[in-house]
Amino acid sequence: MARAARTSIVIFGGTGDLAQRKLIPALCNLRRKGRLGDNVNIVSFARADYDDRAYRALMLNGARELGGLALTTEEWERFAASLHFVHGDLADPAAFEELGRLLAELEGSQGANRLFYFSIAPRLHGVAAQGLRNAGLCGEENGHWRRVIIEKPFGQDEESARNLNRTLQGAFQEDRIFRIDHYLGKETVQNILVLRFANAIFEPIWNRNYVDNVQITVAESVDVENRAGYYDSSGVVRDMIQNHLMQLMCLAGMEPPESLTAHSLRDRKSDMLRAVRRWSPSEFSRNAVRAQYEGYRDHPGVAPGSRAPTYAALRLYVDNWRWHGVPFYLRSGKAMADKVSEVVVQFKSPPLSMFRRLGGSGIAPNVLSICVQPGEGVHLQFDTKAVDAGFITQVVDMEFHYRKLSEEDALPEAYERLIEDGLEGDASLFLRADQIEEAWNIVDPLLRYWDAHADVEIETYPRRSWGPLSADRLLRRSGSVWQSPCSAHRQR
Ligand code: BG6
Repeated sequence: MARAARTSIVIFGGTGDLAQRKLIPALCNLRRKGRLGDNVNIVSFARADYDDRAYRALMLNGARELGGLALTTEEWERFAASLHFVHGDLADPAAFEELGRLLAELEGSQGANRLFYFSIAPRLHGVAAQGLRNAGLCGEENGHWRRVIIEKPFGQDEESARNLNRTLQGAFQEDRIFRIDHYLGKETVQNILVLRFANAIFEPIWNRNYVDNVQITVAESVDVENRAGYYDSSGVVRDMIQNHLMQLMCLAGMEPPESLTAHSLRDRKSDMLRAVRRWSPSEFSRNAVRAQYEGYRDHPGVAPGSRAPTYAALRLYVDNWRWHGVPFYLRSGKAMADKVSEVVVQFKSPPLSMFRRLGGSGIAPNVLSICVQPGEGVHLQFDTKAVDAGFITQVVDMEFHYRKLSEEDALPEAYERLIEDGLEGDASLFLRADQIEEAWNIVDPLLRYWDAHADVEIETYPRRSWGPLSADRLLRRSGSVWQSPCSAHRQR
């Protein structure tokens, strides 16, 4: 639906990788689909010294080369006419005055809504919020709203996240602050809610009585590429686990919300995070592993002897009636054997087996796998009778794939949905302050524990493997193995 109200979208960090790869392509696509009205202006703010023309050329190239955007010259020109550039330093009040002047010119005497997008280094989030506040650019006027979308990582730990929340809340009301986790914009991640709560068959077995363990994998085949400068001070726990994997865990494990409102959804996710058992330092050694892929320290930008983990796996327990005693395994890594994000629910085995399995013993447990990407879909593994082989069983896979549902080749990009929701003021797929702080509260002690054991050499794993051996041992102790039906299916 094309929006009628005049709106300015201001991107801080408008020349960066994210802007070129994701934000500008998403905005282009929204315009092309008629979901971004012609009265929406986009103003990019960054330090580089471009004029509008040079900036538009940079974005066209970036959106095509990095963002894979395919569009006609006519489509681009229609979009680019609403693209503007302001150059300046976030610490410089004059730059905000300049921004204010341009906004006033574009918005006219009637004014407009404003969506600020912080696509800048985390240490600059607070600086940008203060700059806007001091320049009087984020105060609501004449019924026009002001909202801010903030990229992750949100803080470096619980304390810095709390401080940042306070700073942001000094400039914007909490319900105007949209903390992004792009995983929540993915269709298949939203489908976890639909699968669980639009179908009556799953809910009765979605608990400790039937579920043996839940595994959440976000594996990437790429290494840190040219992002070592950021990544080395972050590592996989801050980069992926505290946000994307925790959110997947919440969706897989939370109680049913009473509605899809932001309030209700976020309350249930916060309940889930609060129920996660906090490990004491001595318990971490048995419940968490970390490692680096071989050759990580050779990347330019990685500190000599760096201890930043590029892989981590954790066992967490959720101490509530639904999940007590059921391990949630979370693992993520770079330079791994395959790119796959999936949520695997492994059910308990039948109490008694009277069958033999082809090439194995007993009956294989049922496994429901939600393939977030690629091969977006759902797999259900169950035992069936092998053909013409007496009562020998074999595992088969019932599968659904999104590509069969849609004529489009690709599912919409997460950023399209999230930017659209930001414009609509729907915060249900964004994070509330308490969720972020709670998620840090879970991982902070682990990060401190690892920091305190700086003398222990960090384990390595070969590139294109499934991670270190210690991650396999983490599961083997409770009789499980890592599963990736989604990846296995694609390899077949
Ligand atoms: C980002 C991380 O949040 O997510 C990156 O900073 C990671 O390190 C990326 O590569 C993965 O996102 P996706 O959508 O490709 O799975």
